[in-house]
Formats: sequence, C-alpha cells, structure tokens
Amino acid sequence: MKLTLLVLALGAAVMIDGTTPDGYKRVCYYQKSNRVKVSTIPADLCTHIVFAFAVIQNWNIEPEVPQDLDLYKQLVDKKTSNPGLKVMVSLQIGSRQLLLGRLLRWKHSQKMPLTSCGIITWTESVIDAETLAEGQERLLFSLALIPSVRSAAVIYDVPVISSVVDFATAMTYDYHVFIKNISEVTAYNSPLFTPAGESAVYSTNATISFYLNAGMDRAKLLLGLATYGRSYTLVSASQHFLHAPASGVGGPGPVYGLKGFYSYQDSCTELKGGTRVWDDHSYHTCTRQSMGVVRGYTER
Ligand SMILES: *[C@@H]1O[C@H](CO)[C@@H](O)[C@H](O)[C@H]1NC(C)=O
Ligand SMILES: *[C@@H]1O[C@H](CO)[C@@H](O)[C@H](O)[C@H]1NC(C)=O
Repeated sequence: MKLTLLVLALGAAVMIDGTTPDGYKRVCYYQKSNRVKVSTIPADLCTHIVFAFAVIQNWNIEPEVPQDLDLYKQLVDKKTSNPGLKVMVSLQIGSRQLLLGRLLRWKHSQKMPLTSCGIITWTESVIDAETLAEGQERLLFSLALIPSVRSAAVIYDVPVISSVVDFATAMTYDYHVFIKNISEVTAYNSPLFTPAGESAVYSTNATISFYLNAGMDRAKLLLGLATYGRSYTLVSASQHFLHAPASGVGGPGPVYGLKGFYSYQDSCTELKGGTRVWDDHSYHTCTRQSMGVVRGYTER
C-alpha cells in the first residue's frame, strides 16, 4: 500500500548505490500482501526496500513464516535490474510501535534485555558479528521513529540514535485516531501543520522539528509518509467539519474493506463519488460521503 503511492508520486531515476542521482534516499516499505506481489514492485524507483516484518524469536531474527524466505530472495533478485538497491528487513518490537532496522541475514543468538536501548545495542552487535563473519560490507541499520513528540522526548536518546543509525525515518501519520471516550472527534491523520484548536505537537512539522532540534543529523533523517487514511462515522451527517463529533470509526472502505482504515486505492475510489475538501493551512484533504462518513488522507 505504502509502496503504491511512492510509485505513483515519484518519477523513475537511476540509482547509485543506495541514493538517487541527486543524493537522496527513497526508502519503500513492502508489507506482505496478496494484492501487491513482490514481482510487481518496480525496484528502480526505490533506493531501499524494507520488508515488513521479521520477528525476534529466541534471540534470532527470524522470518515470520518460513515462506517469507522466498519473498526475501525475490526482493534481493531485484538487484539485477537495480544493482544499487538495498534490501532490508524490519523488526517490530512488541506493541510499542518501536520499529527497528533491517538485517538481511538472521542467524544469531545473543542475549540482551529487550528494552529500546538494549535492542539497539543487540542489533548493533548482530550487525558487527555478521560483518566480521562474512567479511563484507557492513549491514545497514535504521530506525522508524514514533510521531509523538511527547513520547519521543521521554523514550529516545536522539543524539545516540543519530550516531548509531545509517538513517532513521520519522513516522508522520496517525496523529489522530478514534478512541472511545478519549478521542471522539474527527481530526487529521497526517497534517503537515497543526490546525487551529489543537495542541501544536500533532503535525509532520512538529515531529520533524522535534527530531532536528533534539540532535538528529538532518542528513540521516527521513520523512515517513502515510499512503492511507483513517475514517470516522459522524454523530450527525450535517456536522462534518474538522473536530465534529464522531461515534466510531468509519465503515469498511470500498476496496480493502477495512473498518476505520482506507488504503490509497480506497481513497482513489472514494474520490470519484465523494466531495474533496482541502485545508489550506494543514495541507490535508478529506472526502465526504452522504452516509455521514469522513475520511482524511494525505495528498502531497
Ligand atoms: C466509556 O464511558 C462509558 C460511560 O462512562 C462507559 O460505560 C464505557 O465502559 C466506557 N468505554 C470504554 C471503552 O472505556
Ligand atoms: C513548525 O514547527 C516549528 C517548531 O515547533 C514552529 O516554530 C513553527 O511555527 C511551525 N510552523 C507552522 C506553520 O506551524
């Protein structure tokens, strides 16, 4: 899903060893899906492809299911058409949305406490051991950084992260989701700037500014874009403004059929029948249906 937008939004370019000709990284996440096959990924549009997700089991980095090994291989084979391409796996640690960088090989057993600090040290030791054992180019290490400025200020030592990673991607989405009794009004999923009436921390600008001010090397910081939106069911169909009362997440999207979530394909389908509303300040777009469902999505 995420990959699809990148493909649509960006032109083709020849890659030089992990960067575009103008020196940028264009990192694509591939989440296993029957809808988007590995074979359909145009590898020449990405400098890096990250496979989501592998798991840590018994202190080994393991494929989630054995069949994933074949998908890893198919991704690596894309280097024949794009020799500079880097292929990585992403590890999802627990429920804390701490995403860790990707390693291509996964046979190690070293014990470290599974805290975010421990996991970074452990991952680094895996990379070092792998590099020594194989006598080859050092594996890349990257982190996906959470969007919440308040949480990030508590859990991350940003200068340390900046010094150990090859790059880190700040996730700039899910600033608002429907949560019963806690967050029951419509709000933007991924605004560039904070709209009036909200705490200034809920925007792409706030997240990126935070990481730069906290000591992240700007050459290593990547902007993580969402290619999906979130939806709400309105309490009243006539009250469809920003921060309007919502009774729950929206009904199933037209293509993927998921409640509260709609993919890029769902958005495109929706736009044909809905009303497009653009927020000039936040750079955010919504569609509205007569059914009393609003969906926010990102247009960039
Ligand atoms: C929300 O609040 C109502 C009323 O106080 C309560 O009955 C309900 O259990 C709460 N729901 C959740 C999910 O916390
Ligand atoms: C972007 O974030 C910075 C840092 O928090 C803030 O000073 C600035 O006003 C923000 N810009 C907009 C347009 O909100």
